[in-house]
Amino acid sequence: MKLANQLLLLSLAKLVFSNDTLLWGPYRPNLYFGLRPRIPQSLMTGLMWFGTHDYQSITRTRHACDQGDHLDSYTWTAYDPRQGGVQVIRDSANNVKITTEFLKVAGGEHGGSWAARVRGEPIARDLPSRVSTIFYFGLEGLGGLEMETDEDENGITGEFKLSGSSPQLDDFVIRVVDGPNNTMVTDGPHAEAFGERIGKTHFVGQSIPAGNVWQAKDFILKALIDRAREAVAPYQDPATGPPDPSYVLQLPDEVYTGSNLFAVQKLFDGPFQFDVFFESGSSKQKLSSSILDQGIPALVASYDERFRSVFPYPSDYAKEKEQSLEAFSKASTSNLMGGVGYFYGTSIINRKFSYEWDEDEDATSNTGQDEDGQEVQPGARLTEPKALLTATPSRSFFPRGFYWDEGFHLLHIGRWDNDFSLEILKDWIALIDEDGWVAREQILGEEARSKVPQEFQTQVPNYANPPTLAMAVTAFISRLKATTDSRAPSAQDLGLDLGMGLGADSQVPLATGPSSASEAAAGSQYLESSELALSFLKSIYKPLKRHYDWFRRTQRGQIKQYGRIARSRTEGYRWRGRSELHVLTSGMDDYPRGPPHAGELHLDLISWMAFFTRTMKEIAGYIGETDDEISFGEIEKAILGNIDDLHWNEQEKMYCDVNVSNEDESYHVCHKGYLSLFPFFLSLLPSDSPRLGYILDLLRDPEHLWSPYGIRSLSASHPEFGQGENYWKGPIWVQMNYLILSALHKTYAAQPGPYQARAKEIYAALRKNVVDNVHKEYQRTGYVWEQYDAITGEGKRSHPFTGWTSLTTLILAEKY
Ligand SMILES: *[C@@H]1O[C@H](CO)[C@@H](O)[C@H](O)[C@H]1NC(C)=O
Ligand SMILES: *[C@@H]1O[C@H](CO)[C@@H](O)[C@H](O)[C@H]1NC(C)=O
Ligand SMILES: *[C@@H]1O[C@H](CO)[C@@H](O)[C@H](O)[C@H]1NC(C)=O
Repeated sequence: MKLANQLLLLSLAKLVFSNDTLLWGPYRPNLYFGLRPRIPQSLMTGLMWFGTHDYQSITRTRHACDQGDHLDSYTWTAYDPRQGGVQVIRDSANNVKITTEFLKVAGGEHGGSWAARVRGEPIARDLPSRVSTIFYFGLEGLGGLEMETDEDENGITGEFKLSGSSPQLDDFVIRVVDGPNNTMVTDGPHAEAFGERIGKTHFVGQSIPAGNVWQAKDFILKALIDRAREAVAPYQDPATGPPDPSYVLQLPDEVYTGSNLFAVQKLFDGPFQFDVFFESGSSKQKLSSSILDQGIPALVASYDERFRSVFPYPSDYAKEKEQSLEAFSKASTSNLMGGVGYFYGTSIINRKFSYEWDEDEDATSNTGQDEDGQEVQPGARLTEPKALLTATPSRSFFPRGFYWDEGFHLLHIGRWDNDFSLEILKDWIALIDEDGWVAREQILGEEARSKVPQEFQTQVPNYANPPTLAMAVTAFISRLKATTDSRAPSAQDLGLDLGMGLGADSQVPLATGPSSASEAAAGSQYLESSELALSFLKSIYKPLKRHYDWFRRTQRGQIKQYGRIARSRTEGYRWRGRSELHVLTSGMDDYPRGPPHAGELHLDLISWMAFFTRTMKEIAGYIGETDDEISFGEIEKAILGNIDDLHWNEQEKMYCDVNVSNEDESYHVCHKGYLSLFPFFLSLLPSDSPRLGYILDLLRDPEHLWSPYGIRSLSASHPEFGQGENYWKGPIWVQMNYLILSALHKTYAAQPGPYQARAKEIYAALRKNVVDNVHKEYQRTGYVWEQYDAITGEGKRSHPFTGWTSLTTLILAEKY
């Protein structure tokens, strides 16, 4: 409890000064459109809509992103974390294309104001397009909301206005304002009986128990349906028929005392538009529609301009295709950044759980006592609430933080806005607990849990996940070095390559807010100031080292016990928490590995540890921890030696996992696929290694891993190829292809050696295959996908999946 209070105070201290451009955002990416600030308990907003062609559409009200809604597509087409953006949603079932625009307006001392516009137009012009929108505002925590507009039991005309205040946002005003040309169904059945309500804005104010605002949709629809039942009751006679649904499916126009949830409903026939303004009290600036009229086109223009400088790509495509590729890249990059969410809440962990083959652990994690010496009951329990700003793999299917995805997300985000990626990284680093552990899935709070089957909700503190946060750190350090280098007068042209802060002259100034030059600087302060950079790296060093030590302690494998011969007697690793069919911790869930054994050694994990050690060495060097730098260097050398000594199989000519036979003899377990490539993925092999030739052969062989769409996860000749869940048994994953392309581009095709020419050839062909296929599938289906079929290249599983699949943008721009 005491700790919780301290944490709360700390976060409050931080938040009071959150007047920065990152306070507000579409940080409820699980919704089609949901804005909130980065404050644990505060104002939450959301958009819902349903068709009013019939009475059934209300049961298919759109709110949380759901594959079951079968929308044609939805994606941010332009999004900048500091300015805002534009999202396009195509909902054919309701014959409406909805555009949501969001503009941040800096000013004042409480994180600024914002304006949002919701526009609708028919997809098929010659067919009716009748929808109702509901925009809601719910306040969690301290403070209050009050309706300023005079209530009217038949709805209101003109703007809808709320005033409110909360400890961190201070005073604010919210207004919802109609566009100029909205029309409403006026000639439907029984129009005369509803004359007073037609064309009005309807509303409800409700008092929702603490912690329930995320369920706003249920509360609001209940109020609407209760009223609709009453309204439709007099029309039971089949001869006259029911009224037009848009006259009946309306909010009750009531406000209850102590309301902390307000919903504003509009009903439309044909194209529509309305604006929502949030005016922060201390900013004194009154917002009007003109700020959106001018600000959004300016935002889009500056986004386009900047996109070309941050992600330029070689013109190796035909002109028409180039445009389409660019639109696709912008959309996936924007949806990655528009998919960043802010989560706050408890999670479930189980300190007692372990499999029998993991039971050789040091006993401390199983003593049945927690840190305070209290007896811990076996089983799952809730943790203290935690806060996390994080990108999300999929807004519909995985709208929460995933450790191993996040390292990849940050590679991409960091290219666009270095400091935004560090804000996210900071939050992840803050999750590293006293032991050094981070849960691989961050399911914080009830809303996040509502999307996860119960058997996956509990996290176990001896389970790991690929330490990709290390990638985010090395990427930052290399941007830092590039910035420093570019300051040398001879390297001016690097400004374009970096795209941040340096190419300011070429940028279009924004009509609202600060100029692009200072916007760009706002995203690269940690690159521009070496003091800031140093203090950031120093601040993450200790927790990161704790995390690193946790890996080395808890995921260690055995070497001496089985008489294994290796240069180092300590550097062998084994994932804990695996079962016979799954190694969820490795991230490659069902990749074939066979039944578990306490004596196993895992190739992917030792490779990740080599990479993590390199990162630690690099950061220690950067911040002047010279002794640590030397000892990390020694560990790295030991790990690299052991990868060869323990994992290379001379008969198979490939790297393999290691197991122990019934006679206690060590032997290799070899399955051709992503696993075999890990030392290559992470550039751990020297470019003149004779083993590289065999790896490139495996990669390039169409009988095994090569396909016209990218590198397959498992060899097409493997008996389990395409079998079972077929998650990691063949399907093509873009982040793994990114790792391959990165290794080729930066190391094996770049450095002279016997395989350089081959590496170059493979690089060019693979890059084209991956980009062309992801792009083709986006055009065909409207979505970016989680993975691609190993035989046909078709998009598979979750969508939109603008987490690591959006790395296609970096592949196209050759930013590794
Ligand atoms: C935020 O507000 C504080 C206190 O008024 C002020 O000192 C600081 O300069 C502001 N920061 C930004 C980024 O506007
Ligand atoms: C509203 O209608 C007028 C007249 O047709 C047109 O000039 C204007 O662009 C329309 N505004 C919007 C936002 O659709
Ligand atoms: C590892 O060895 C154990 C015992 O020898 C055996 O039961 C298990 O099937 C083996 N696992 C693999 C992946 O070969």
